[in-house]
Order: sequence, then structure tokens, then C-alpha cells
Amino acid sequence: MRAFEMQDRKDTKMTAELINGKDIAARVRQQVAAGVQARREQGLRAPGLAVVLVGNDPASQVYVGSKRKACEEAGILSLSYDLPADTSQEALEALVDELNENPAVDGILVQLPLPEHLDADPILVKIRPDKDVDGFHPFNIGRLVQRRPELRPCTPAGIITLLDSVGTPYKGQHAVIVGASNIVGRPMAMELLLKGATVTITHRFTKDLAKFVGEADIVIAAAGKPGLVKGEWIKPGATVIDVGINRMEDGKLKGDIEFEPAAERAAYITPVPGGVGPMTIATLLENTLFSANELHQD
Ligand code: GUN
Repeated sequence: MRAFEMQDRKDTKMTAELINGKDIAARVRQQVAAGVQARREQGLRAPGLAVVLVGNDPASQVYVGSKRKACEEAGILSLSYDLPADTSQEALEALVDELNENPAVDGILVQLPLPEHLDADPILVKIRPDKDVDGFHPFNIGRLVQRRPELRPCTPAGIITLLDSVGTPYKGQHAVIVGASNIVGRPMAMELLLKGATVTITHRFTKDLAKFVGEADIVIAAAGKPGLVKGEWIKPGATVIDVGINRMEDGKLKGDIEFEPAAERAAYITPVPGGVGPMTIATLLENTLFSANELHQD
């Protein structure tokens, strides 16, 4: 809708159609709510998601608050664990052990980043793979790599939902990912490969980023660097997905892609905010319902 409003304005040449992540996420959340209700009508318990937050990072507090609220709205039981910033590695691992054993819990999410004195890796490996609704455990990453995904990392899976919503053909398309993180870039590559796209991952050591982006039918920017991808690099007609959520000094959020010039060339583009962000939470709810329905038939 906003795309058309903006097209009507004389002072902008925007041609891309906006991919409205907020609307698509709302639809997914309604589907999850319906799935939860169907379980309840069969006499099954509500799915349960334990959300663990360590410390007082303001951005993490906002994200965790949104996740908990979204759970409740979908009828998912939200169990909150807010631990002090000086929590020990042992105490956090003991909590994960306890949640692993708790039959009311289908999903365990430990919000990242953790305070500096804590080591995230052993914690993520300790989460039982069948409760790993973030999809970060090596078991779940391995399943995705081997084309038999179970619990899939939320942001890349949510981006596939966005790409599907605009009928992305994938096969024969060149997808270029900017950023090779464990949370987004790497699993995103596996998701797109699974769909039949030809995939390139670029990263901080890539020499000519403009050249790669210029060849892309699908661009996924997930580097966490505001405005890194220049609008003029975008191939006309490309589909452009911006994962960056960078808080600027003026308080505004900015993506990794220069939005206006990219929107003049792209066929489809996600806004920041209101693009990928809401999909991460919607996919987390999908994963929690999947975990309850398919992995915990008790
Ligand atoms: N921090 C930023 N994104 C994520 C996410 O998807 N999951 C968790 N657990 N922490 C995050």
C-alpha cells in the first residue's frame, strides 16, 4: 500500500513494490494462533516457550518483550526468566538443563548477545535440539545443510516466507548474501540453496562487493552496517531484502541498504523497520508450534 502512495508522490521515483513484513507476520501469527486453538480443542496443552534474558541490554529487553507478548497473543504459554547481568555460566547452564527436562516447555530461547563473561556456544549446544526453536544448535544447522530441516533459524526462514509471498522463482536465480553470520548469512545460504537458487555469500574480505550485488536477482543484506549496500549497485528488477536494523544517533532505524535509490531499481524491497524484523518473531512462534505438534507428542 505504501509503495503506491509513494509512487504517487512527484518527488520520488520509487518503482519497487514494498514487501510488507508487518502484514505478512500478522498473517503468520494468526495461522499459529489457529493451530494452537486446534490443539486445545483436541484436549492438548498449549505449546510452551521459555525465553531467557541475561542482563539489562535495552535492545534485548525490547526484543524479548515483543517475543513474550507475541506468544501470549497466539495462545502460547510464555515462561520468562530474567537473570541478573552477573549470572554465572554454571547457573545459566543449570537453567537450560532444567528447561530441557520441563515437559511444559517446547521451545527454549536464550537471547543473544550474552554479557561478555558468558560463553554462548556451550549454552546453545546444551539446549536440546528438539527444543531449539532458534535453530542455532549444530544438529539443526546440520539438518538444514543436509536438506532435511527440522527447526530452522527464524530470520532466514522468515525471509523465505517473505520471498514466497511475492512469488520468487528461485531456480535459475542468483542470490547474493552480504554477511556470513551464524544467525543469518550462513543459514540463509542453505535455505536459498534448498529452494534451488545459485548462492553467493559475500563478507568482510570480499573484494568487489558492488560487482556481486550488481549480478544478484535476490539480494539479502545482513552485515549490520548502515547503508553498506549502495542503491546504484542493485540490478534493475531485483528482489531486495534488508536484514539490517541499525540504530542511528538521531534515534532512527536504518537498514544495511540505501533504501530510496535501491527502491528506484528493485522490483520488490523490504522496508526498515517493518520488513524482516516482524518475521523473526512470527517464525519463532511457528517453530514453537511445530515443536509441540511434531517433536513433543506427549
Ligand atoms: N539476538 C538477535 N537475534 C536473535 C535471535 O534470533 N535469537 C536469539 N536468541 N537472540 C538473538
